[in-house]
Amino acid sequence: MLQAKAQKLTPTQRANALLQRMTLAEKIGQLNQLSADFATGPITPQGNKQQLARSGQLGSMLNLMGASRTRQLQELAMQSRLKIPLLFGQDVIHGYRTTFPIPLAEAASWDLPAMQQTARIAATEASAAGIHWIFAPMVDISRDPRWGRVMEGAGEDPYLGSLIAAARVKGFQGSGLGHTNAVMACVKHFAAYGAAIGGRDYNGADVSQRSLWETYLPPFKAAVDAGAATVMNGFNDINGIPATANALLQNNILKGQWKFSGFVVSDWASISELIVHGYAKDHKQAAQQAILAGNDMDMESSAYQNHLATLVKQGQVPMATVNNAVRRILIKKFEMGLFDDPYKFCNPQNEEAQYDNAAHQQFARTMAAKSIVMLKNDTLQSQPLLPLKKTQKIALIGPLVTSQRDNLGFWSFNFDDDSTRLVSLYQGMQNALGSNAPLLYAKGCNLNDADTSGFAQAIATALLADVVVMQVGEARDMSGEAKSKSNLQLPGVQEALIKAIHRTGKPMVVLISAGRPLIFNWTAKHIPAILYTWWLGMQAGNAMADVLFGQHNPSARLPITFPRAEGQIPIYYSHHNTGRPAANDSDLNYVSAYIDLPNSPQYAFGYGLGYGTVTYAKPVVSNTTPKGNNTVDVSVSIAYNGPSPRTETVQLYIHDKTASVVRPVKELRKFQQLTLLPNQQRVVTFKLTTEDLKFYNHKLQYVWEPGAFNIMVGPSSDKVQTVTVNWGK
Ligand code: NOJ
Repeated sequence: MLQAKAQKLTPTQRANALLQRMTLAEKIGQLNQLSADFATGPITPQGNKQQLARSGQLGSMLNLMGASRTRQLQELAMQSRLKIPLLFGQDVIHGYRTTFPIPLAEAASWDLPAMQQTARIAATEASAAGIHWIFAPMVDISRDPRWGRVMEGAGEDPYLGSLIAAARVKGFQGSGLGHTNAVMACVKHFAAYGAAIGGRDYNGADVSQRSLWETYLPPFKAAVDAGAATVMNGFNDINGIPATANALLQNNILKGQWKFSGFVVSDWASISELIVHGYAKDHKQAAQQAILAGNDMDMESSAYQNHLATLVKQGQVPMATVNNAVRRILIKKFEMGLFDDPYKFCNPQNEEAQYDNAAHQQFARTMAAKSIVMLKNDTLQSQPLLPLKKTQKIALIGPLVTSQRDNLGFWSFNFDDDSTRLVSLYQGMQNALGSNAPLLYAKGCNLNDADTSGFAQAIATALLADVVVMQVGEARDMSGEAKSKSNLQLPGVQEALIKAIHRTGKPMVVLISAGRPLIFNWTAKHIPAILYTWWLGMQAGNAMADVLFGQHNPSARLPITFPRAEGQIPIYYSHHNTGRPAANDSDLNYVSAYIDLPNSPQYAFGYGLGYGTVTYAKPVVSNTTPKGNNTVDVSVSIAYNGPSPRTETVQLYIHDKTASVVRPVKELRKFQQLTLLPNQQRVVTFKLTTEDLKFYNHKLQYVWEPGAFNIMVGPSSDKVQTVTVNWGK
């Protein structure tokens, strides 16, 4: 009877009622999160976790997976006085049992429904394995490929990044918290973690208010608006204030202006690290700074656990602040339905049913194919080199050809049966050709040493073939957390191997698998066909074969600029014009340029080829002198000539020609993806309103200003055609 009545109360009412029954120690317990089995950060001593759970001193655990294992710990939490269930959190960054392409690769698809779907599948599988809470999406904008965590985000652009952030949150949270296959999303790392100085992980970020609002905050806002249940702060300091203790960000912007109603978790031991930053003198002060700044849950520092009670008793932290943090966490536990059934995610049958889901694996293949960016496809003997023909004798060469786990990339899980589940390029090609097809293979070299002893055999193998397909790039742990690099060239002797094979004169296709934009200028210049294959996940080999043989017409577009040299970094398309812009790459006449390097990147944001050609006509606007709240139609006619259906991503950029603050030369404002049939012509229309013209003015107000705007449409940021409109008041 009592319980039935409780059911009718809202989660907030239930949380409030429970709060009143809690001791201070029990409240602090809810704010305490510790890691279980394995560490995803420096190990910290934490006592007996079972005992903490049983005594109500643990609110959440990370890195504990599996329906039965999570049940065991939940059973201990159910022995505590108030029986408050634990939350199990996990880094499920690009799939759980089914591994999808890394987030940066998926971003290259520009396919929002597909990205929502991979997040949905990840949530379905993870929730079946006892996980309530996924530490994703990472929505940090980054313009620095030296930073290893670019692999985990959506690239450089705040507009594309915001759409992807929202899609992923919706995917993880499905039809809403409370369903057994919906997990809480955790948007991270709030904020500007991707602006780490020098691209060195965990480094400080020195960002102006303008770049904070224009570049770094929009994806967080989009994720919060999409209903993200939780937010994680970051390791970095922002203009001298560590994110974890940043009241402006957490209290004012996130919880105040944006009305975020979920809770904030610290990053791994980032409360303790306030001391190392030089911001807190000891753990007690660190705990005080973090909770007063709006950090609700403490991951791994035990600073709240050890000091919050004293801080409250000494009047240094108001009880109301603790209550607010606990309430936010309890509300989510109620919304998840865990008070009604703490074991609802601990069902071994569900786990078993999701263990080998063929439909999920099929989608991993589709997503991987959508993520492959074709950078080059020259015509040799009057035909583009790609797609390959199945009658050609193919040599597969390179250190990644038979590799399985490297294709998974950072933030992926190991399962005992991986060797039978993960599809290497070799396996994928064999699947496509049938097992009797003659497939030549030589490894050639290792990923990252100076050994060239395998070159001779690789050359001999190439000489037997009609065409050589090479897979080179990074090992699984060369991009990711704490994987910053100053040198972005292909590691080891891989480019030397490419050169050696090139000397055979055989037609060559190079596949580059990596977690970040690498620099491969010689290859870019001399090799006729190049595919950027990122880290594509468990179905990598099948997806590569799909593209190589033309089953899938490549459609992906770069979500991040590829530099020619590390010295160009940070390099991004939406830069300012300067007062002395260079007219072209060789203009050095008192202009803003490098004397030893072109200004242009190797490959621009939005760039990517497909089979066949798409021709864009000049965009046409319905009104060149619109006023106020008019809507302007921007139409562009595109014509496709090619062998098979092709998905085209039509991009629209805007430049406000004169404004009260300088505006970037281009900003992506809209895009449309459509599938074209061979010889099809279509007109794509975008509707623009003054909403699309807005920016943060000199007072950081989000407004539009009347005047002239360039509207640019094209297949890539560096290949646009422009019309100008004068938008009046
Ligand atoms: C540190 C990472 O920065 C964060 O993204 C991750 O969720 C935590 N470790 C937990 O593994």
